[in-house]
Formats: sequence, structure tokens, C-alpha cells
Amino acid sequence: MPAKIINGFEIAKRKRVEIALEVEQLKEKGVTPGLAVILVGDNHASRTYVSNKQKACQEAGMYSLLVELPESVPEAELLEKIRMLNTDDSIHGILVQLPLPGHIDETKVIDTIAPAKDVDGFHPINIGKMMTGQDAFLPCTPYGVMVLLEDSGIDIPGKNVVIVGRSNIVGKPSGQLFLNKDATVTYCHSKTKNLKEHTSKADILVAAVGKANFITAEHVKDGAVVIDVGINRNEAGKLCGDVAFDEVAEKAGYITPVPKGVGPMTITMLLANTLKAAKSGK
Ligand code: GUN
Repeated sequence: MPAKIINGFEIAKRKRVEIALEVEQLKEKGVTPGLAVILVGDNHASRTYVSNKQKACQEAGMYSLLVELPESVPEAELLEKIRMLNTDDSIHGILVQLPLPGHIDETKVIDTIAPAKDVDGFHPINIGKMMTGQDAFLPCTPYGVMVLLEDSGIDIPGKNVVIVGRSNIVGKPSGQLFLNKDATVTYCHSKTKNLKEHTSKADILVAAVGKANFITAEHVKDGAVVIDVGINRNEAGKLCGDVAFDEVAEKAGYITPVPKGVGPMTITMLLANTLKAAKSGK
């Protein structure tokens, strides 16, 4: 039987309505959640992501501030801008769009964001809290994956979860969130031997590699849940994930499509985190 398609677009839409309602209630108490997005340089993809984030923010009734800095901005100037936003009461969340130009140290930038405003969940304080199961801002894409599964009624405790990819933004934190929910987690990456041997044991397979059609039917167990975090362009220039969708959908139990799978959830969780930041202490 072909897989059930997890419609991230619809789930995200529903969640955004819930968030907008809460924003409205918060505004009645005199607090408008505010998100500052810092864009350095003119990377085309980054500009698109940032404009989508801003639009979603405004649609949810939040205040959205775009800070644009030139490619050549000195690191010290960017850090100073972050420090100013850290103490700006109209701003509850700060996001610096990555990647940054080569002369800027990303780690230093992330470390400068106040942990209480780190709605990307990239600051070591939030990562440490997530690892130890404390309340934290969770990184938006892994958080979105968990919400998709929860909304689809997919049980996690005791499941074999295999994560393909070990980026700091997606792979590593995704594994941690599954571990926090009592899954048995395996990380696979570019040095993994016999990838198929691992992935074919997965009850839940998360593909976060960044290569079109990397995961094929032979990697997937019958009835598995397949979550595709990839955003790639194939040879024809068409947007696609890391999973060869058509053949894997014949074998999997559940699958997320690209587009309209995990993607819309990332921005939704950014809104959820900004709302959480605005609510804290209010
Ligand atoms: N670049 C690619 N993904 C992300 C993300 O989730 N947050 C930020 N700040 N930059 C990114």
C-alpha cells in the first residue's frame, strides 16, 4: 500500500492559526511579539528565506524588523548590532540568517545572541538545555519534525530512529529530540559504512543530507516513516528533497513530500519560539 503523505503545509497552516490567536491575546495585554532578522550580504537563497520569515511573522500579527548589513560589514559591527537588539524591549527574538561571509565567525555571532532571545535555538545554552531535557528554545527544523510526527499520531518511544546527516542545525539536534522521547537513535553520515544496513532497520528515517535522490527504496524498511528534510534542486532545476519520493512512497508507511513537507514547519516553529520568548516573564 502506498505511504500516507504527511501534509506539512496543512499542519503548518493550522499551527499558524493557533499561534496568531495567541498573539492576539498577548497584544490585548500590551505585548506585541517582535522578531529581528539580520541579513548580511546578498545571498539569493538567504534573502528568500528571510522574506518568507518576515511575511509569516506579519501574518501572525507579530512585529518584524529586518536588519540588512552589507557583505563587507566588520564582525565587530554585527556583534554590536546584536547587543543592541539584546536590550531592545520591542524585540523578543533575534535571528541571524546563516551562512555568514567568511570573515565573520559564526560561533562568535551565535554566542552573542542573548539565550532568552535565541529563537533559532543555536546558542550553546539552549543546546545544552535541550540535551539535558530542560525547557529551551528548540532549533526550528528538528522541532518542526517532532510536531509533524506528533500531529500525525506517530508514536516515538522505543522506535529505531536513524538520522542521515549530522549538521548542527538539523541532524544532531533531531537525534537529541528523538532520544529525549525515548527512541533508540543512530546517526549516519558521510563516513558511515554500509549505510543501507543502518537505514533499513529504521522505523523512522530522517534524511538531512542535502543531496537529491540520496535515499532510495532499497534504504527503507517496509512501512517505515520517512522524513525528508532536504531542500535541493534536481538536474531539471525542480525543488526536491533527499528522498527519491516516488519509489520510497511505494514502500514507506508515511512520507513527507518536498515541497510542502518539513519546510513550512520550520518557519512555523520560529513563530512558536518567538511567541514563547514574548510570553516568558509576562
Ligand atoms: N540558514 C539555513 N537554515 C537556517 C536557520 O534555520 N536559521 C538561520 N538563522 N539560518 C539558517
